[in-house]
Amino acid sequence: MWPRINGSWTTNVDSIGLSSVPLTEVLQSPQQRLLTYPDEQVSCDRISELADLGITAIYDWGPKQVQSWHCLGLGYCGLVLLVQHQGHLAALKVRRTDAPQPSFTHEVSLLALANTHHIGPRIRDHSNNFLLMDHVSGQPLLKWLQRQQGLEKDSVQRLLTQLLHQAFCLDQAGIDHGNLRCVTAHIMITAQQPILLDFSSASTARRPVNVTSLTQGLFWGTKIARWLVPRWFQPDKHQCIDCLRQYKRHPTASVFKQLLDLLFVKDG
Ligand SMILES: Nc1ncnc2c1ncn2[C@@H]1O[C@H](COP(=O)(O)OP(=O)(O)O)[C@@H](O)[C@H]1O
Ligand SMILES: [Mg+2]
Repeated sequence: MWPRINGSWTTNVDSIGLSSVPLTEVLQSPQQRLLTYPDEQVSCDRISELADLGITAIYDWGPKQVQSWHCLGLGYCGLVLLVQHQGHLAALKVRRTDAPQPSFTHEVSLLALANTHHIGPRIRDHSNNFLLMDHVSGQPLLKWLQRQQGLEKDSVQRLLTQLLHQAFCLDQAGIDHGNLRCVTAHIMITAQQPILLDFSSASTARRPVNVTSLTQGLFWGTKIARWLVPRWFQPDKHQCIDCLRQYKRHPTASVFKQLLDLLFVKDG
């Protein structure tokens, strides 16, 4: 079991006792391999990049175990570690050496744009191989739904509405997240709000389809849908699809509102 860190987006390091490796000792430790995952080669360049970013330690903490070390997560582009930065916890996305992208430049610019709309984890800093952002202290959506005791329909509806609003806001801003159908991996629920993660596939060059992808990911054909739909909401799929077609032609606030009304149709 790994300990839980509750509370806000950032947690003061002094308040928790986690095992860690200081940056100054990383090169002599087995954890240096995490910085060039999945390669095994030592990289002094990457250590100096981290020192320039002001990272002082890497924590053995998170739900995912990689090379006997706990991490916040692992995807196709990055390995995400909990780190110490200026006395606080932060999330560090390490570019995998086999990642399709040559650097984090693209992801950083899209996440920074989303941040201007208060969406996504706040970027703190970045370099070619590292993206330093706020640590999102929360639970993935499915776990959150399954673990809450006495969860009420109103709370679930409020949370899903907040999420769909974020997707609408991205549509309006012309940013396509590109990975929202994969709701299980890319939505974290904090004490304050849901946070959309992973802008590695985001683009401003495509037509944004965030509301459509998220609606499908939440309500049809996914693990989350199998949990949500029978228990909480039973929207009429055909009506919703018609509404999404209309939204595709006219992505306006009023069509979006019609969609919400159809998704969260009142009982009786
Ligand atoms: N800021 C963060 N705070 C906490 N966990 C995170 C954060 N960013 C990513 N993660 C975790 O790491 C996983 C992989 O990150 P992600 O950005 O999706 O990488 P990839 O682009 O390789 O798919 C996520 O699914 C999530 O579980
Ligand atoms: Mg991902």
